[in-house]
Amino acid sequence: MTLTPRYPVFLHGGDYNPDQWLDRPDILEKDIELMHEAHVNCVSVGIFSWARLEPEEGVYDFAWLDEVIDRLWKGGIHVCLATPSGARPAWMAQKYPEVLRVDENLHRPRFGERHNHCLTSPVYREKVRQMNTRLAQHYHDHPAVILWHLSNEYSGDCRCPLCQDAWRAWLKEKYGDLESLNSRWWTSFWSQRYTDWSQVEAPGPMGEKSNTSMWVDWRRFCTHQCRTFIRNEKEAVQAVDPTLKTTANLMYRFWDYDYFSLAEEIDVVSWDAYPGWHSGDDTHTGADFAMQHDLMRSLKKQPFLLMESTPSKVNWKPVNKLKRPGMHLLSSLQAVAHGSQSVMYFQWRKGRGAAEMFHGAVVDHDGRSDVRVFQDVRQVGLALEKLAPVYDSPREDAQVCIIFDWNNWWAIDYAQTGHNKKMKYNETVLMHYRQMWERGIAVDFQDMRGVTDLSGYKLVICPMLFMFREGFEQKLRTFVEQGGTLVMTYDSGVVDGDDLAFLGGRPGGLMDVLGMRGAELDALFPDDRQAMVMNNGRRFPVTELCEIPEHLGAEVLATYGHDFYAGMPCLTRNRFGKGTAYYLAAKVNADGLDAMYQEVLNHLSLDRALDAALPRGVTASRRGDTVFLQNYNPQPVRMRLTKDYTDLLTGSVQPRKLILPGFGVMVLTEMTKDQEE
Ligand code: GAL
Repeated sequence: MTLTPRYPVFLHGGDYNPDQWLDRPDILEKDIELMHEAHVNCVSVGIFSWARLEPEEGVYDFAWLDEVIDRLWKGGIHVCLATPSGARPAWMAQKYPEVLRVDENLHRPRFGERHNHCLTSPVYREKVRQMNTRLAQHYHDHPAVILWHLSNEYSGDCRCPLCQDAWRAWLKEKYGDLESLNSRWWTSFWSQRYTDWSQVEAPGPMGEKSNTSMWVDWRRFCTHQCRTFIRNEKEAVQAVDPTLKTTANLMYRFWDYDYFSLAEEIDVVSWDAYPGWHSGDDTHTGADFAMQHDLMRSLKKQPFLLMESTPSKVNWKPVNKLKRPGMHLLSSLQAVAHGSQSVMYFQWRKGRGAAEMFHGAVVDHDGRSDVRVFQDVRQVGLALEKLAPVYDSPREDAQVCIIFDWNNWWAIDYAQTGHNKKMKYNETVLMHYRQMWERGIAVDFQDMRGVTDLSGYKLVICPMLFMFREGFEQKLRTFVEQGGTLVMTYDSGVVDGDDLAFLGGRPGGLMDVLGMRGAELDALFPDDRQAMVMNNGRRFPVTELCEIPEHLGAEVLATYGHDFYAGMPCLTRNRFGKGTAYYLAAKVNADGLDAMYQEVLNHLSLDRALDAALPRGVTASRRGDTVFLQNYNPQPVRMRLTKDYTDLLTGSVQPRKLILPGFGVMVLTEMTKDQEE
């Protein structure tokens, strides 16, 4: 499938902010020339252009944008056209202070910065609607325009009076009456009972800080406000032309909103990836971003766009390192390997001043193309053209699904339990994901909404599934009963979707499926000693969290090595119906997880992207018949292939005894009989 039917090719380009250069027509002309040289075919325009598009209230000026888009089009460059709501103009903040967000300390900062407007403000929504309508009327059928880029990186919450009213209205809609809110929020504790809706306020440091059911609802409400804000943006542009699709650029490990829910509002998922290469273990970073790409693909179960990345470095990390030779191509094609239909950058040309003047860009202040970064970008442009045959190939069907759920993430982070505020949900999910990534096994992510369907998977992994939303335990039970394999870890099935504890043992509703019950949760200090001891005697260090299970008949595969629970089960397996359920009771290190998954995978035959032993730091992912072989080590590695392949990037036949360069990537297609002859 294609995300951009008006221009169905791999997109290569990025954020283009010509509004900075309107007094330099020579530079704007040169841009087109350089874009050709870099094999750029698409740019995102107008992301923060409100002040130029509506310099005074009701006075619109699109003439400069007409020129920009026409010039691009004449040069054969396509456009993702942005709505400018990511930052509002000064006149609007001055005249309508309600468009400015109120922070958690109930202060309303004054005009400045970006991404800090109130998502509820009727004035702001109306201004956005008017602006979007005009943009759509003006540009919807411009041949250059292929996609709406709605706003930029939606984020944040607001506690202004309008939001407080909206919060109460949302709660009324959800609970109907106060009694049911009181009961689901467990307000009989600490005398928190509400007797009138007007008493309910947003949680935060100035008020209620500790009621976790309330906090989880607050995050759901903030997601809802963002959804309706997006809906308002989208309806305005699609009322003019329903055929032009919309995207919103999402972010890395973004906690504020439930992205599965948000993705329901947009046509295309895109995201901004800024890995911290060379600031530690690049293999870890590689796995981390592979996981995020797969998560983005999973949000709508369709390809996605890499909307932003840096051609060289960012300017906002404590240490901003340049990408080492090879890394730009590798990290760009990593996105493609996981289902992206684009490689886009922030930004095309470095600005002369203001906040991001030193952020990496395709064109540096010197405007030269004969430099490393520009040539790296050009190399990616050329590679994407060579990969045209892969464009329509979807990422291979995954047989493994990891449950990742924002509601669960919030509930874990809000809970005061084992390691307060350091429960490391994302890191834990990544540890499990990495086990598959290292083996070249494709993974999907799903959350716990009603639409989630597990039936096509062989293996479902639930790392730290603290919350069981919407009767999800029933889905897991059916999955195992019908022959699936489930891996569940410590601290799972503790609370229901309202963040209220299951009465009668955990994991709630699954104790018979797992053949064990989580009885107590121990937390370890860094110096505490604990281990998982496999039946064959292998020992693996355990840190942070240990569930002490009550044994209800599961087969014990490993036990604890120390402390008063030494000898008690740490890893179990239980047959249930036609399937199998594993329970990992403690946070074991990567080698321990590897041993566990060897055991799990021994009983399952799962497809791997490449039938070859993958050295450490090397992975393979498949789109259709094409295998993206990636080396995240700085040094070359030797591998042995079992078939004959051609590398699409170089056109050359690969020897079976292969040397994959450091930070190298190959895109392998199997040789046909004709080619071999
Ligand atoms: C993104 C943002 C861009 C730019 C970039 C810098 O989060 O959308 O506008 O600021 O970061 O890395």
